[in-house]
Amino acid sequence: MPKVTFLPEGRTVEFESGKLPSTDHGKRESILDVALAFGIHLEHACGGSCACTTCHVIVKDGTDANLSPQEEDEADRLDMAAGLTLHSRLGCQAVVLGDVTVEIPDWNRNYVSEGGGSINLGNAIPTPKS
Ligand code: FES
Repeated sequence: MPKVTFLPEGRTVEFESGKLPSTDHGKRESILDVALAFGIHLEHACGGSCACTTCHVIVKDGTDANLSPQEEDEADRLDMAAGLTLHSRLGCQAVVLGDVTVEIPDWNRNYVSEGGGSINLGNAIPTPKS
């Protein structure tokens, strides 16, 4: 039963692998999918199709063994993320395989706390690769 802790809120959620109801946002059981399933806000302007960077999270614990490996399209997209770190991942692409702790960056939290909803980027989002 993987556990995901979301910082700075410090909320930990747990789910049984393969049994999390899909939110249809991002890869199944990705950090974004888990967050939305438990009512935790994580921005996802492109709907989880690896076409923006708004679901950017910083992995504080569990990077290598407990998340799916980073694929090329995620790495390419992450290069455009604000505040990129060596432990950055896209929440919609990183599938949870074991216990992880992730931090939602300041700019994302501040946007939400100021009453923001999903960001509409209109035509600025390219069509996802097939
Ligand atoms: Fe757009 Fe993850 S939600 S890249």
